[in-house]
Parts: sequence; C-alpha cells; structure tokens
Amino acid sequence: MNKQDVVQSITGGQFEAAAANGTASAPANIALCKYWGKRNEEINLPVTSSLSVSLGHLGTTTTVEPVAGADEVILNGLPVPEDTTFARRLRAYLDLFRRDAKQGFKVITHNTIPTAAGLASSASGYAALALAMNELFGWDLDRRELSILARLGSGSASRSVYHGFVQWHAGSQDDGLDSFAELLPETWPDLRMGLVKISTMEKTVSSRDAMRETVAESVLYRSWPSQVERDLQIIRQAIAEQAFDTLGRAAENNALAMHATAIAAWPPTLFWWPESVKAMQKVWALRANGMPVYFTMDAGPNIKLLSDKQNVRAIQNEFPDVEWVAPFDESAR
Ligand code: DP6
Repeated sequence: MNKQDVVQSITGGQFEAAAANGTASAPANIALCKYWGKRNEEINLPVTSSLSVSLGHLGTTTTVEPVAGADEVILNGLPVPEDTTFARRLRAYLDLFRRDAKQGFKVITHNTIPTAAGLASSASGYAALALAMNELFGWDLDRRELSILARLGSGSASRSVYHGFVQWHAGSQDDGLDSFAELLPETWPDLRMGLVKISTMEKTVSSRDAMRETVAESVLYRSWPSQVERDLQIIRQAIAEQAFDTLGRAAENNALAMHATAIAAWPPTLFWWPESVKAMQKVWALRANGMPVYFTMDAGPNIKLLSDKQNVRAIQNEFPDVEWVAPFDESAR
C-alpha cells in the first residue's frame, strides 16, 4: 500500500470542497517513550509503539483553501520558498488530496513553537493540516482515521490529534490501518513540562534521516524494541498511579537510550550541543539535591524538563529562561 491508497481507503477519494476553507489547530507533543525507527518508510509505520504528552497551548493552527494552480504556503506570516525541504515535504503531502493535477492549495499556518528546533513542530503541523483537510472536505472522520492521515505526513503527528497522554499503537498490518494513536484516560493536572531552548536554528540532521541511519547502521538499535516494551509498561503504570519519579526515570532513560542508538550508528548523529550537556548536568545536580526533576530530548539540542507544579519556581532558579507548559490546563488551550 502506498500513501495514496491509504488516503483513498479513508476518505473514499472525496476531494470536492464542502466549504471555502478548513481551519484547525493541533498541539505539539513530546514523547515520554519515543518513536524511533520505521518498519515502512512510505506510510510511516513504526517499529514500536510510543507514548507522548501533548503541549496544551503550544502547537499549530492551519487554514487550507483550494486554489487554481500552484500551491502557496505561508508560515508565520511569511511565504515559504518553493525549494525548501519544508515546502517540498508539504507539497508531497498536499498531492494526496488534489482533485486533479491543476488543483492547488493555499496553506496558511501559524506555529506557536519554534519550527524545526526539536520542539515537534512537524507533529502539530501535519496533525493541524489533516484536521483542516477534514473540515475543508467535510469528511467527518473520527480521531482514529485522522490520526492515520496525520501519520502519513509525519509519524509523530499521529499523536497530535489529541490533548493529554497519547499512545500510538505500532500495529502489525501492512496497510497501517491498525497503526494509530489513542487518548489515554488519565490526566495529571500538576505535571509540568519545561522547555529549555538551547537553539531555535533549523536542525542539520532531520529525525527522519537519523532514524533511518540508526535502524540500518546501529548495532545498539537491536535492543531498542525491548527497551520500549519495558518503558511503555513502566510509564503506563506510573501514569495510572501518578508516580512521578517512576515516570521521570523511565522517560529520561528512554530518551538517552534513543540518543545512544543514534550515536552508535555510522555516520553517527549527535544532536547534543555543549549547552545541552550542561543542562543535563544541571538536572542531575538538582536531583542529587533531592529535587524531583527529569528531562527528555528529541532529535535536536533542546531539553524538555519534567517536573511537578510545586517545584517550578525552585527549578527556575537554575533554568531562568525555561518556558513552562501545563499539559492538562484546559483553560490555556
Ligand atoms: C525523536 O515524527 O519527526 O521526536 O515520521 O519521519 O516525520 P517522521 O519522523 P518524526 O520523528 C519524531 C522522532 C522523535 C521521537 C518522537 O516524537 O516520538
């Protein structure tokens, strides 16, 4: 099955606009147990399941509108040049939804998070776009189907169709129709995520390329599926019991193990900057002094702190520029 077949089977190929445009928002998400490695690159089928928490008010809002002729993409108020990776990837996704080759789309997208800085903007971006397409074409799809459509744009986008704790089931079918995300019932009102921005520059290696090289070239990747199986269980239970230290330990260890597989690939990928390592060391020093704080990291130099509402102020002394997110604060959405 290719992407087009998946879209066809979900939407029935209904590409007649039901409204002048479609608008939707989706939150960014940070994985506590990472998606790292694909079993099918064409339709973004993962090797393992993964689990994330959505970032509340931080994410993407997108409006999509059919136009005659070439696509137009406006990102945060500025037109995106056609020859960028961003525009090429987006056009390939839009290709899945054209009535005919002459039909274009105007996509106006606004991120409240830095694009491509390891803060998961492709996740909220493709989720918002899939949701906006659903509005434009009046498909009335359910979240499971929307999660699959978002996944075709970017794997982690499958999880951004929900707020809260989200598990993306790897699935086992070749058509990927059993590979979608689901909302977990639990909430955790006092949980806080702190975004420590080391760099907001465009990253040099994409998660897509790094995970491909890791799967192909890293001996350590062989142990990744069993690590995930264990971590998913621990994290699910920690969420159910609201056991913060258990959650933090498993999430931090999972992130470091993911990075270890990438470092052990050839060519190696090290996403860390010296400032990233300094931030990790600060977290470890805080913990040695009894502060319950952990971190996770994606395919970029930025660090995301995990802590609890009551410790936010003390942690801020060490990380003055941290931006706190309350994932379960509905008033901030
Ligand atoms: C490290 O979803 O960006 O953030 O499916 O190729 O678009 P593609 O990859 P992407 O990978 C995200 C990897 C990660 C971990 C995670 O979010 O689970």
